[in-house]
Amino acid sequence: VRRMTVPQLARRKGGEPIVSLTSYHAHTAAIVDRHADFILVGDSLGMVMHGMETTVGVPLDLMIMHGRAVVRGTRRALVVVDMPFGTYEESPNVAFRNAAQIMKETGCGAVKLEGGRRMAETIRFLTERGIPVMAHIGLTPQSSHVMGGFKTQGRDEETWDMHSEDARAVAEAGAFALVLEGMVEPLAARITREVAIPTIGIGASAECDGQILVLEDMLGLNPSTPPKFVKVYGELGEMIERAVSDYAEEVKSRAFPGEDNVYR
Ligand code: KIV
Ligand code: NA
Repeated sequence: VRRMTVPQLARRKGGEPIVSLTSYHAHTAAIVDRHADFILVGDSLGMVMHGMETTVGVPLDLMIMHGRAVVRGTRRALVVVDMPFGTYEESPNVAFRNAAQIMKETGCGAVKLEGGRRMAETIRFLTERGIPVMAHIGLTPQSSHVMGGFKTQGRDEETWDMHSEDARAVAEAGAFALVLEGMVEPLAARITREVAIPTIGIGASAECDGQILVLEDMLGLNPSTPPKFVKVYGELGEMIERAVSDYAEEVKSRAFPGEDNVYR
């Protein structure tokens, strides 16, 4: 099997919806790999895997570590790795150096970064030099300190043109796809119609060219109540709780290890 390529993914604009999930580790990635077109090693791993409050504290080496694990665990899906806060905003040169390090050390096929018009020059710089870029606009968690939290975008219709301009700018700069996160549905649908690259929605619209969710959220592993855009497809949190509790009981009662679990 050949891995999904960036041009193959880009050609899915307006076609069969693109399936995507996040994954941060080899064993879950191997499962997702059988069903997803691309896998995002998102910087949400700072919260999900490492208990951070926001993604702002995620370092580059952590993204590389998890990116490598996901590439090793997969063979079909395109693997996209998030550029963490502070590794690309300063200048196209800094962004190139860090994106190149991510690609060389993980073997991933593309990087993702947050921002619209302000990142267009950087997106062009990277793309022209061999680094495919997925853009990400709308609710951009790395800017949560400026925005005053995680706020759904586009509630005021007067802001729609600004979001549309962000989308057009990253598409024209060469981004091969665009994540639309946390924006009102008609705005996400409008942007999807306006740009020539696939849009990937999360808290966006069914009209997007694809969808993405954080794997742990859709598996019911988020210990707090996830936002409304998350649909829970499996209650793994409850399953793990039951399994761990059964194990604890059996250890205490010496029911485990049983006959089958020891070497005679
Ligand atoms: O970090 C992440 O998981 C993401 C997706 C939610 C798009 O950026
Ligand atoms: Na992210």
